[in-house]
Amino acid sequence: MNQVMKAAMISAYKQTSPEILEVPIPEPQATDVLVQVAAASINPIDLKTMEGGLKMLLRYDFPLILGSDFAGTVVTVGAAVKDFKPGDRVFGRVQKNRIGTFAEYLAVTQGDIALIPAPLSFTEAAALPLVGLTSYQALKEVMQIKPGDKVLIQAGSGGIGTVAIQIAKELGAFVATTTSSRNFELVKQLGADLVIDYRQQDFTEILSDYDYVFDTQGGTILEKAFTIVKPGGQVVSITGLPNTRFAKTYGLPRWKALAIRLASHRLNRLEKKTGVRYEFLFMRPDGRQLAQLAEMVTAGKLQPVIDRTLPFSEIKEAFAYSASGRARGKIILQMKAAPSE
Ligand SMILES: NC(=O)c1ccc[n+]([C@@H]2O[C@H](COP(=O)([O-])OP(=O)(O)OC[C@H]3O[C@@H](n4cnc5c(N)ncnc54)[C@H](OP(=O)(O)O)[C@@H]3O)[C@@H](O)[C@H]2O)c1
Repeated sequence: MNQVMKAAMISAYKQTSPEILEVPIPEPQATDVLVQVAAASINPIDLKTMEGGLKMLLRYDFPLILGSDFAGTVVTVGAAVKDFKPGDRVFGRVQKNRIGTFAEYLAVTQGDIALIPAPLSFTEAAALPLVGLTSYQALKEVMQIKPGDKVLIQAGSGGIGTVAIQIAKELGAFVATTTSSRNFELVKQLGADLVIDYRQQDFTEILSDYDYVFDTQGGTILEKAFTIVKPGGQVVSITGLPNTRFAKTYGLPRWKALAIRLASHRLNRLEKKTGVRYEFLFMRPDGRQLAQLAEMVTAGKLQPVIDRTLPFSEIKEAFAYSASGRARGKIILQMKAAPSE
């Protein structure tokens, strides 16, 4: 095996796009597997990390290989790895302090991966981990959706929305979603019960008495969400500001918690005024939950939605397309050195 690999990295924040360079192949620790990456998906967090927008929550050293989720083949396993062996097809979302899936090889802890369900190709499997886990954690863990609950999922046509609609339907919810008219058919096929064209209509004039809003937009769209939820319901955002509860759970130092408290005062006020609880979710890797998502795929209840697949060499184009905000489902990078499917 080569001792070096190609990887897409940045050498400082605010770089305009990552550069593909040669670096040593990582050494797996005892609880790691070394994976030859076949495909990786672009997530908006990759762009935010590159811009330095997550410095409050995550600290990185440079040079930094970007990329949060992947699909590939196990090459070697560490001495303490029991559940995986060379040749296994695996996928996962890596720990936030060990990102680097835009590379030909990746060392990843065994607890963060799962076997790829048989029906999925590497390209399809790479579309699921980050958005699948985020949606699962928002809808099942935080909201604890029950059959008949009414939930609004903002941006049903995005990477998150396309998976969240399917999971919410599987949990028995009535699902409203927003997108522009060109994506109506897509979100209806995924199971959305009510679709709102956010460019023509204001969701607050159409929806009321909802149990939950899954917010993917932040800002004023997030603030408006409180007006359509019943008292006792929840607004769960993955894009808005974190609040003091999150700062405590996440273990942020006191000065950061104070800064967050000041920045989120409008959300705190809305929470008090409406009786609707606000939660900020920062998803976490979880191989066991990923295995549950894999079961949903095998049962025909979850299917990744892919907008386009680009070769690794076109990572700059992939980043630019993600930054446009127009993706319908996921953007996938295919790694050159990976074995064919
Ligand atoms: N906190 C966490 O753990 C976490 C985890 C995952 C993602 N996130 C965040 O969640 C956000 C969404 O991620 P994503 O992967 O779904 O993004 P994405 O795939 O880039 O979203 C693109 C989609 O958003 C739609 N859209 C854009 N503006 C909209 C609006 N105002 N109303 C309704 N739809 C709109 C677009 O549809 P049109 O083309 O029709 O406009 C497009 O289909 C990002 O900010 C990401 O960083 C956070």
